[in-house]
Amino acid sequence: MSSTGWFETVAEAQRRAEKRLPRSVYKALLAGSERGLTYEDNVAAFSELGFAPHVAGGSAERSLSTHVMGVDLALPVIISPTGVQAVHPEGEVAVARAAAARGTAMGLSSFGSSAIEDVCAVNDKVFFQSYWSGGREVIESRMERARAAGAKGVIATLDWTFSHGRDWGSPAIPEKLDPKAMARFAPEVLLKPRWLTGFVRSGALPDLTTPNLAGGPGEKGPTFFGAYGEWMTTPPPTWDDIAWMRETWGGPFMVKGISRIDDAKRAVDAGVTAISVSTHGGNNLDGTPGAIRMLPGIADAVGDQVEVVFDSGIRRGSDVVKALALGAKAVMIGRAYLWGLSANGQAGVENVLDIMSGGISSALLGLGRSSVQELGRDDVLVPDGFTRTLGA
Ligand SMILES: Cc1cc2nc3c(=O)[nH]c(=O)nc-3n(C[C@H](O)[C@H](O)[C@H](O)COP(=O)(O)O)c2cc1C
Repeated sequence: MSSTGWFETVAEAQRRAEKRLPRSVYKALLAGSERGLTYEDNVAAFSELGFAPHVAGGSAERSLSTHVMGVDLALPVIISPTGVQAVHPEGEVAVARAAAARGTAMGLSSFGSSAIEDVCAVNDKVFFQSYWSGGREVIESRMERARAAGAKGVIATLDWTFSHGRDWGSPAIPEKLDPKAMARFAPEVLLKPRWLTGFVRSGALPDLTTPNLAGGPGEKGPTFFGAYGEWMTTPPPTWDDIAWMRETWGGPFMVKGISRIDDAKRAVDAGVTAISVSTHGGNNLDGTPGAIRMLPGIADAVGDQVEVVFDSGIRRGSDVVKALALGAKAVMIGRAYLWGLSANGQAGVENVLDIMSGGISSALLGLGRSSVQELGRDDVLVPDGFTRTLGA
């Protein structure tokens, strides 16, 4: 390992995360559901797509910048919201700083471990992510808190199935880290002294609560399981609820988790600014095709009416370029930055964003394009039978 902790690829960051994190924490990041069909296809499908490179006539300057959800981005890669606890002592604040250092935006999960006020204090491009949990009144008060903190947009994540059971085993997450839980986790934690040292130095152990679901800033939120319970017992939203949520927020609003054309059209009717074509990184309904297979059909259907964002399976800059060529305006990354955060904190997330920009720039050069806006279908080779058109 280099003395600075720098890594070359996201795959290497993942290897380091696996070495560094207690087994349960690593498994919580790996996530996925049931057989892992969607989780695997999200990544594998990118390997089926080819490039159509040019050899001369390219541009010496290449622009990666874009504009999504009302904010300027230095690169078309946004931090996707992940409700993850206990990865790193600085958690989402370190991620937000890294995103700000590289000029990009961050989605903050309502299940995350850092308060939105602390995250907005270090990054002025934060989108607050909320599930449909707790009903209208509760959701409105959480959005108002996010607005007061300075959030620039809201992401409503609508895909979830509460699937239980992974063939590779689910992590054991304690309700809170009390002495009993500490004793139970001691063997796996003691095997990972660097992870533990990080928390000991910061002066606090992970508290496994959800501060953004608290009544207000500074109050202690419910535990992760308390939050999950509220969400599971809230009846799923109607499209009218989504239109209400968008209107109540009044600013840039994204619906995350779209895989069907009919749903994409309903989101347009609800007046959203953006949709994310996503399978939640394969953590959701297992057997849904890899998200990139649905992107072309959805982009063709609604790309002129909303901003189409893509997430699920992005591991390198060339994946970003493939998604942009198939109709996305920007992508969001999940595990890629979580591995970076686990491997090397804020610098690790910056490292991952640099891997993305380096890869995008290199692919643009190969394709003879001078900006991400120039990318189109002609740049990629899409094999017969690759795309899946759902809900046409
Ligand atoms: C450990 C983990 C936790 C996640 N938590 C959330 C969450 O709280 N809210 C949300 O909208 N998406 C959540 N996601 C989904 C991500 O935002 C994103 O859609 C997904 O990670 C993209 O796939 P990728 O990991 O292959 O990049 C989570 C994903 C992971 C891996």
